Amino acid sequence: MKTIVVMNPKGGSGKSVIADNLASAFANAGQRTALADTDPQHSTLGWLERRPENAAPIKALDWVNANGDFGKAPKKTQRLVVDTAAGLEMERVKELVRLADVILIPVLPSLYDQQATTNFLERLRELKRIRKNKRPFGVVRNRVRLGARATARLDQYLVRLETRDVGRLHDRALYNEIAWQGLGVFDLKTRQAEDIQVSWRPVLDFVEAPDD
Ligand SMILES: Nc1ncnc2c1ncn2[C@@H]1O[C@H](COP(=O)(O)OP(=O)(O)OP(=O)(O)O)[C@@H](O)[C@H]1O
Ligand SMILES: [Mg+2]
Repeated sequence: MKTIVVMNPKGGSGKSVIADNLASAFANAGQRTALADTDPQHSTLGWLERRPENAAPIKALDWVNANGDFGKAPKKTQRLVVDTAAGLEMERVKELVRLADVILIPVLPSLYDQQATTNFLERLRELKRIRKNKRPFGVVRNRVRLGARATARLDQYLVRLETRDVGRLHDRALYNEIAWQGLGVFDLKTRQAEDIQVSWRPVLDFVEAPDD
């Protein structure tokens, strides 16, 4: 089983959208997929509840519990995606890093998001597993708008950050529209959805890269 944790303590960076669409990518590729929600907001569980019965199956895991323990994924799960909450304490981040095989960190093109992410990455790099390169992690630029000055700034920021850049996802209304039906872009075969799927390729390649 491969576990992908999507995290950034900065609220609203796109953790849930990325976790849910990633799970939809795996499920539609025929992988036995589970999606765990560790966020008391239950965003991902809400999305899963809306998911139609005939959509590619994704097992819902409610990991929001009082003592903060993680649950278990069903046996034979091939891909486990974990959505996390905003405002995570470092102790919790440490536990999530232990759990993860791969970590995705979404960041939005904005001063506030970039500042918060810089701080988070500094703290993340202090963790032993990260320092020893035992946990691949990469930044996903999210809600990118082509030609926008903020996007160019985000690109320059990433170069300075010296962090693995695993791709850019555009700001697209379709994510929100289909979330109401519990669907991700990989559940659709429309031209528009397929265009968006292309932008996911580098993210999927990073996640699917064989372990060292
Ligand atoms: N690529 C995108 N294109 C358009 N809208 C997006 C995109 N990514 C995220 N959004 C929207 O931005 C908002 C925040 O996204 P999301 O809820 O996934 O962030 P989050 O990091 O999970 O937030 P929280 O920290 O509250 O859990 C939502 O309204 C979501 O639909
Ligand atoms: Mg969320």
